[in-house]
Amino acid sequence: MILSIESSCDDSSIALSRIDEYKLIFHQKISQDLEHSKYGGVVPELASRLHAVSLPIMLENLKNRIGTFDNIKAIAVTNEPGLSVSLLEGVMMAKALSLTLKLPLLAINHLQGHIYSLFINKPHIFPLSVLLLSGGHSLILEAYNHKKIRIIARTLDDSFGEAFDKVAKMLNLSYPGGPVVESYALKAKRQNLNFPIPLRDSKNLAFSFSGLKNAVRLKILELTQNGTNTLDNELVAEICYAFEQSAITHVTSKVKRYLQNCDIEHFGIVGGASANLSLRSAIESLCKMYNKTMLLAPLEFCSDNAAMIGRCAIESYRINDFTPLEFLDISPSSSIFV
Ligand code: KG4
Ligand code: ZN
Repeated sequence: MILSIESSCDDSSIALSRIDEYKLIFHQKISQDLEHSKYGGVVPELASRLHAVSLPIMLENLKNRIGTFDNIKAIAVTNEPGLSVSLLEGVMMAKALSLTLKLPLLAINHLQGHIYSLFINKPHIFPLSVLLLSGGHSLILEAYNHKKIRIIARTLDDSFGEAFDKVAKMLNLSYPGGPVVESYALKAKRQNLNFPIPLRDSKNLAFSFSGLKNAVRLKILELTQNGTNTLDNELVAEICYAFEQSAITHVTSKVKRYLQNCDIEHFGIVGGASANLSLRSAIESLCKMYNKTMLLAPLEFCSDNAAMIGRCAIESYRINDFTPLEFLDISPSSSIFV
C-alpha cells in the first residue's frame, strides 16, 4: 500500500491506496474553508499552521483504523505546485515517515494528481485530453502516458476558480467562491445582465479571466453607486448568473476550438471547479457533438485530496520513480509538463 499526503493549498488530506487493485482503503480530508473565509481567500501562513495541526490528527486516525504501518511500501507527497509554506508541511511529514518507517518517497505533482482523480479505484485510460480548472490553474492538457503530459492551453492571467473566488469576495459571499456563486446563479430569477466573453475573437487556445473579473467589479460599483448602496439577493444572483455564463461560455468556446482538431477519444474534466454542474453539462454537450467519451471524477475527488495523489503515486511506484530524501524539495510552480 501507499500512504499519500496532500497539503499544497488549504486542504489537508491523507490517504492509503492498494497498489495492486488501485483500491482506496482510507481517505480523510480536513478543509480550512471556514478559517480562510473571513479573509476572502487563502492566507498561506494560516494554511501552513492548520496543516501542522490537521495532518498528525489524520495520521493518528489512519493508524487507529489499520493498526499497523507494516504493509506500507512507500510514502507519497505532493511537492509541487502550490503554496510553499503549505507544501512544506506535507513534505516534512513525508520525510519524517520515510525516515522512521524506512520507506522510499514518491514526489507527486499536484496537477498530475488531479488527472488521476478520474481513475480512483480503477485503471487509467491514456491517451486522454484533460480540462483542468482549479483555483490555481486553467489548462487543457494531453496526457499520453504517466510521464508524458503536454500543455495545450493555459491562462494568460487568473484561473477559472480564482475568478469565482474574487467575484464572491466582491459580492461579500463566502470562500471558496465557486460553490456559492454557482448556487446563487441557480437562484437567479432575472437574467438581464451580460458580461463580455473573454478572447471571443481570438483563434488562440488560451484562457483569460481578469477582464471578466474587472467587468464584474465595474458593474458592482455602478449598481451600488460606488459602494454607497448594498445589493439585494436577487441582484447578487443575477450578477453570479451572468458572470458564470460568461466564464463557462469562454471555456467551452476554447474547448470547442480544441476538439475540432483533436483525435483523442477520451476527454476528462478535473480540478476543484470541475464540480460546477453547468460547466459539466456544457462540456458534455460538446463531447457528444465531437464524439468524445467524457470522464468525470466523483464530486468528492474534484477538489484537492490525497486519494488522487495516492492513485497517481501507484503509477510512479510501478516505474520505481522514487526521490531520495535529500533531493525531495518543494516548488511553487510545476516542473514536469512540457
Ligand atoms: O482543485 P482545487 O480544490 O484547489 C486548487 O488546486 O486550486 O480547486 C479549488 C477552486 C476554488 O477556486 C473554488 O472556488 C473552485 O475550485 N470551485 C468552483 C466550484 N467548486 C469549487 N468553481 C466554480 N464552480 C464550482 N462549483
Ligand atoms: Zn488542486
